[in-house]
Amino acid sequence: MLPCASCLPGSLLLWALLLLLLGSASPQDSEEPDSYTECTDGYEWDPDSQHCRDVNECLTIPEACKGEMKCINHYGGYLCLPRSAAVINDLHGEGPPPPVPPAQHPNPCPPGYEPDNQESCVDVDECAQALHDCRPSQDCHNLPGSYQCTCPDGYRKIGPECVDIDECRYRYCQHRCVNLPGSFRCQCEPGFQLGPNNRSCVDVNECDMGAPCEQRCFNSYGTFLCRCHQGYELHRDGFSCSDIDECSYSSYLCQYRCVNEPGRFSCHCPQGYQLLATRLCQDIDECESGAHQCSEAQTCVNFHGGYRCVDTNRCVEPYIQVSENRCLCPASNPLCREQPSSIVHRYMTITSERSVPADVFQIQATSVYPGAYNAFQIRAGNSQGDFYIRQINNVSAMLVLARPVTGPREYVLDLEMVTMNSLMSYRASSVLRLTVFVGAYTF
Ligand SMILES: *[C@@H]1O[C@H](CO)[C@@H](O)[C@H](O)[C@H]1NC(C)=O
Ligand SMILES: *[C@@H]1O[C@H](CO)[C@@H](O)[C@H](O)[C@H]1NC(C)=O
Repeated sequence: MLPCASCLPGSLLLWALLLLLLGSASPQDSEEPDSYTECTDGYEWDPDSQHCRDVNECLTIPEACKGEMKCINHYGGYLCLPRSAAVINDLHGEGPPPPVPPAQHPNPCPPGYEPDNQESCVDVDECAQALHDCRPSQDCHNLPGSYQCTCPDGYRKIGPECVDIDECRYRYCQHRCVNLPGSFRCQCEPGFQLGPNNRSCVDVNECDMGAPCEQRCFNSYGTFLCRCHQGYELHRDGFSCSDIDECSYSSYLCQYRCVNEPGRFSCHCPQGYQLLATRLCQDIDECESGAHQCSEAQTCVNFHGGYRCVDTNRCVEPYIQVSENRCLCPASNPLCREQPSSIVHRYMTITSERSVPADVFQIQATSVYPGAYNAFQIRAGNSQGDFYIRQINNVSAMLVLARPVTGPREYVLDLEMVTMNSLMSYRASSVLRLTVFVGAYTF
């Protein structure tokens, strides 16, 4: 219904102006169904046009405005304005009557449609033309003949507004959930990455992705471990490896010398020795292996750490050589009367610092005369008393090392066997000339 301007006192200028603007802004609001024959105040029924027609009160009401006020007709009413007032709109107060409120060209289309140039009805896109009343939080969807206000994905309607859904409350994520406006995102703990479904977390194989292990890398669930090769130890940083100095751990690793190397150690032996079972040193028998440089006329004698070439013919006058090791003083030679009848050369080798007393050499009489008694003694080469003889029985004795000796050192001991037969006043002497090489080491 149009406000009834005529009901208002004409002097209330401001109200009137306000009503004026309202009325002129929406003339269609006053449209009445065609079948009505009664009109609201300010209109009268026009049988010709079958519409309600505005009444020009300025003409029909005598002295509609009093004094200095001028009368201005208006749809459904009239206004009184000062004569000096500027007329800001075409108020049709004195012009031709305005079109009656019902549209001159009524929309022939159903609601939500409008005619196009081809005289057919097309949908009105209320969303595009801002003809909708969707809230800013809502999405406007145009429909044939109408439109719809909906909440975007990830929002739901609470009251008139669309509110973000906190998807994280529904435990969509295996590890961590970050709610976002309209959506959410899953995150994984360190060492994991999102699986193909973007929700579960799968272990990251850090070893394949350049984990900073210096030597060996082992992937494990959610993390990785660095390890080192044998002979290395893991640094405190957990990544790098440093060589283990095995030699510093134990002095028993090597019999002679331990040499640390990256990741391992090796044992070394002094010259004349070879490595045995990675840590022991074994004397090289140069005489056996043929590595010696003795001449044809010499005999090779091996000892700990080396060898010696001795003349095969070692007999000196008046002795004559009777076999490789044996020199004989012929009884026929007067010079031999006070000499041992024979000298037998023998060689042996011992290591340094043997625990003492140590039996080192056993002397055995080769020929036994019935009724004879054999006595053994050290005749020469034992000035410091490093050895003594322990007689075992008539025919054998033991050379005993009495003091620890340190090589390299060499003894030439004359071990004498005196054979006596008291019944026959017989006395004979023979000598075993024993060369004892003491090696420089305890092995
Ligand atoms: C996972 O997220 C990526 C990137 O955001 C996307 O391209 C992919 O389609 C998503 N996969 C699934 C199963 O949702
Ligand atoms: C050892 O000497 C004793 C005399 O002291 C003698 O009776 C014995 O027969 C000798 N034994 C040998 C095996 O020569």
